[in-house]
Amino acid sequence: MFRWLNLLLLFSFIKYSETTIVGNISIHVTGQKGENATLPCDIEARDIFHVILTRLSKNIPVCETEDCSGRVFTKGSCDVFIKDLSFSDAGKYILRVRYTNTPKPQIREYHLQIHAGTSVKKGEDLELDVLLINADKVERSSSSGWTELWTRGHGVSSDRLTDRDGNLTINEFTVNDTGTYRVLDSEGEILITVTVWNTL
Ligand SMILES: *[C@@H]1O[C@H](CO)[C@@H](O)[C@H](O)[C@H]1NC(C)=O
Ligand SMILES: *[C@@H]1O[C@H](CO)[C@@H](O)[C@H](O)[C@H]1NC(C)=O
Ligand SMILES: *[C@@H]1O[C@H](CO)[C@@H](O)[C@H](O)[C@H]1NC(C)=O
Ligand SMILES: *[C@@H]1O[C@H](CO)[C@@H](O)[C@H](O)[C@H]1NC(C)=O
Repeated sequence: MFRWLNLLLLFSFIKYSETTIVGNISIHVTGQKGENATLPCDIEARDIFHVILTRLSKNIPVCETEDCSGRVFTKGSCDVFIKDLSFSDAGKYILRVRYTNTPKPQIREYHLQIHAGTSVKKGEDLELDVLLINADKVERSSSSGWTELWTRGHGVSSDRLTDRDGNLTINEFTVNDTGTYRVLDSEGEILITVTVWNTL
């Protein structure tokens, strides 16, 4: 009975210390769409036996070497390398590094931002696959600051825009649509930045 109580106390302590570490360190990483990014973990290699990466409360499979079919693998002691970035990789990641002989994991929190650039011909439609499940708002830079184009719950702000299956489409692109578009999450963190210019 006494042992059980001890165990219970130990578990509640672990839970508590995890939550205090998370939220305290958030490392910002930026990657270009189609290129690679590294989430640096900066922990000594000594005795690491397990690395768990979570995103949106789901575990992401992490390979131990580069020659595996997955896009995510560890490099060095516990740096996480993500290959061939897409917009949907943007957002918050939590890395738990476990050691042998220690119940308490080391925790790192990351915020991955994806950048891209694209050109559009005047009169064509521009389709951006940026309405991620963690996206809250899409804005475009203009001379008067940031203009809201889409918000979760309210959808698009103009009839020239379409919101369909996770894509935001700007119909019949004009010179006025050039500029920088950005996608924010509900905490106001930037997920995606797309620079759009026009070609004749
Ligand atoms: C992070 O931890 C330090 C020291 O424990 C504390 O002073 C600070 O308020 C914490 N920051 C956040 C954002 O929780
Ligand atoms: C991304 O990583 C792959 C494989 O690790 C490598 O072949 C490629 O050159 C890298 N791309 C860039 C842009 O660094
Ligand atoms: C969303 O946009 C991407 C990239 O432009 C495109 O490949 C995809 O087919 C689009 N999906 C839909 C449902 O329109
Ligand atoms: C672009 O914006 C300017 C200034 O608001 C406006 O006069 C012009 O008609 C717009 N052009 C197009 C193609 O929408």
